[in-house]
Amino acid sequence: MKIIAPSILSCDFTKLQEEVDGIQNAQFLHIDVMDGHFVPNITIGPVVIKNIKTNMVKDVHLMISNPAKYAKVFIDAGAEYIVFHYEAMSGIEEINALIDDIKKQDVKAGIAIKPNTSVEVLLPFLEKLDMVLIMSVEPGFGGQNFMEGALTKIKYLSDAKKKFDYKYLIEVDGGINEKTAQMVSDAGAEVIVAGTYIFQSENRYETIEELKKL
Ligand code: DX5
Ligand code: ZN
Repeated sequence: MKIIAPSILSCDFTKLQEEVDGIQNAQFLHIDVMDGHFVPNITIGPVVIKNIKTNMVKDVHLMISNPAKYAKVFIDAGAEYIVFHYEAMSGIEEINALIDDIKKQDVKAGIAIKPNTSVEVLLPFLEKLDMVLIMSVEPGFGGQNFMEGALTKIKYLSDAKKKFDYKYLIEVDGGINEKTAQMVSDAGAEVIVAGTYIFQSENRYETIEELKKL
């Protein structure tokens, strides 16, 4: 069974809590934080995250510069996964320090990579990561087309996980629909993020149930 993570980026923010209540059969709630600097778009911050009431796991995708500076405020706001971007960091030491810092606060730590970033850059961290997020679109906006380059990265992570008994969850984000969900699932994705596909479907509950079965 797949873990489904609806991205609230595609919901109606004027009735955010109602929208969240309507997708409670998903296991994770994917929350996209954008700062207008790391990506050319701005979304929401910790105040909003803190006020969302849900039993779903709050999966916070930080598309921001300097995530080390802000991780704590998102943890205080209730993030259960903090997923920051490899490209926003300046080297192995800084990345290791941030992973340790997040985990010390009893929160799961993940790293996301953009479509043009090679999956091998994650090798030094795989052993201690709780999540790896493969972006299958350029981060910044919902509703883009899936980029197939993500599939080989997912497969690579899936093979490495089996071979070395790593614990991370393999998450994929961007351009997910019925067809691409099947493709990422076959490649080994375990957490499937979907914004447009779920929120624009006629029956969100059923769409989530169908995705879970992949
Ligand atoms: C994009 C975000 C995604 C986005 C996915 O930068 O990280 O989570 O909401 O949207 P869809 O599913 O519409 O591609
Ligand atoms: Zn995201």
